[in-house]
Amino acid sequence: MAKASSKFICSTCRYTTPKWIGCCPNCNEWETFAEQASDPSAAVRPGSSGNVRAPSISMVHLSSLSHDQDERLLANLREWDRVVGGGLMRGSLSIVTGDPGIGKSTLMLQIGNQIAKEHRVFYFSTEESLKQVKQRAERLGCASAQLLFSDEANLERIIATAEQEKPDLIIIDSIQNCYLPDSDSTPGGVSQLRDSTFRLMRLAKDRTITVLLSGHITKEGTMAGPKILEHMVDAVFYLQGEDQWQTRVLRSVKNRFGTINEVGFFEMESNGLVEVSNINEHLVSEASHAPGSALISVVEGSRPLLLELQALTIESKMGIPQRVISGVDHKQVVLIAAILEKYLQVRLSAHDIFFKVSGGFKIKSSSADLGIALALLSSYFQQPLPEKSITLGEISLTGQLKAINQITMYIREAEKFGIRNLLLASNQNIERTDCTVKKFSSVYNLLSLFSIE
Ligand code: TYD
Ligand code: MG
Repeated sequence: MAKASSKFICSTCRYTTPKWIGCCPNCNEWETFAEQASDPSAAVRPGSSGNVRAPSISMVHLSSLSHDQDERLLANLREWDRVVGGGLMRGSLSIVTGDPGIGKSTLMLQIGNQIAKEHRVFYFSTEESLKQVKQRAERLGCASAQLLFSDEANLERIIATAEQEKPDLIIIDSIQNCYLPDSDSTPGGVSQLRDSTFRLMRLAKDRTITVLLSGHITKEGTMAGPKILEHMVDAVFYLQGEDQWQTRVLRSVKNRFGTINEVGFFEMESNGLVEVSNINEHLVSEASHAPGSALISVVEGSRPLLLELQALTIESKMGIPQRVISGVDHKQVVLIAAILEKYLQVRLSAHDIFFKVSGGFKIKSSSADLGIALALLSSYFQQPLPEKSITLGEISLTGQLKAINQITMYIREAEKFGIRNLLLASNQNIERTDCTVKKFSSVYNLLSLFSIE
């Protein structure tokens, strides 16, 4: 007879080890191992044929599975549906996270209300009382629909209700406020959060009930709770605020059923979040035609955005000139300033440089190099760039300009919003355009844009 022994299982990733260890070698989480007695009757005996008592599984060909016509829950809010990958996938577990007060509860209520027009939706408000939710729902015009509410925060009861009633979607606002009554760990603590998410994942997968959670964010800007929460759920969406206007950006940072980094734009108004489907019109109308301003285009998710770069260079009064840069990598701006200084003899090293991307956006693309260079030069010479122009190109360390990919998509988008001039690298091939095209082979040629005595 095999001796009954115990094993230790990581509560995070189910890694198994015969001895207790502090840190899981598989998922690197600490203090996650719990002892569990091995069932000797289920064990495979050494030398046996390997038969186990669990019933065998019947395997299937993927081709034998038909696509469920109704596999997505559409909210019919274009910005939301696009970011989540074409509507929430049935049986998925997703989380919307963001700073307090950014509009998570508002969004969840509006989404719930929209989906409830065609599906059964249960809304669990674990932070606000039903009276508070009623007030909010009335303000948002979400009180009349078929959406059903509860302020229950006991997760076992929530799950039992969902199992019994089988709604299409349950919304829990927020997961951090739920508790598991039979758990020894503290409500809202890391361990309970993980257990709660695990149980909700099982509910979603086993019963094909879609689960949408809201979650808080820490001061560092990551989701409160262990990173593992992000690994466990199917999709993570961040709701962020931009500094200008009342704009809210919904961004997919993980999505098993759609693309990541997809973005949707909303505006917080007195009657809730309103979709902004013409974000580029907003951005272009806000852009100034002043020295230091350059318009570029970068792709966010699947769409090109037209963003204004703003530079201010001013002779430094300090020994070490200041570099105050936001929205773009500090090193990228410093490097381009160095290239301009080296090849054009502009004395940027004796100037303070202030640099930002309008609207509080953050960009990473090297196709913004030319825009950064021209914004800096435009401020340095105090001369604006040609009106209604967009700049697209990469700059090498040797000062040469390089073509960028997908240029047609950027140009078509820019044309829609009245852009008339394209400032590009000389080796950039483009399709026919009504814009005036100016091409530059190296940073030397950029001076032709400015009248310099
Ligand atoms: P809320 O959805 O409660 O944020 P979160 O759940 O992320 O903490 O949003 C709260 C903020 O939104 C609050 O400052 C008021 C504002 N707001 C509006 O401007 N218009 C509205 O219609 C609503 C409901 C809220
Ligand atoms: Mg809230």
